[in-house]
Amino acid sequence: MALKKAQLEDLIALAREAMGAAYAPYSGYRVGAVAFTDKGDAYTGCNVENASYGLTVCAERVAIWKAISESQDQIVALVIAVEDKEMPRPCGACLQVMAEFAGQDLQIVTVRGDGSYESLTLDDCLPMPFRLES
Ligand code: THU
Repeated sequence: MALKKAQLEDLIALAREAMGAAYAPYSGYRVGAVAFTDKGDAYTGCNVENASYGLTVCAERVAIWKAISESQDQIVALVIAVEDKEMPRPCGACLQVMAEFAGQDLQIVTVRGDGSYESLTLDDCLPMPFRLES
């Protein structure tokens, strides 16, 4: 179920604030994220880069790992904010991690520097995630 407008706007503000903590000295591309759970809790994240480049972690995964490590298990919305003028798109690795803890109806909200946003679902972005069905 899609977030209500007021709630969405609060989460967008939170994601934009989380972008302030981004550690992005190599790319200069700052990202903030919020993972919102079925229990109504919000976990923020930012991208954290590394001198070895490959160890860089995206904001989305930082937010998801914070949520899961606090005993949450279902994410219902993921907000991603950048200061860039282009709309952000979550990378394939983050989408696969989202699929582990969310249904295909996960609401993914992307926010660009001017504050305009788009609402997508995980199914739009990753229609065939790898899943081990039991
Ligand atoms: N990045 C994210 O945090 N999320 C995305 O959806 C795409 C990319 C980060 C990783 C790296 O720190 C910087 O953006 C440039 O790729």
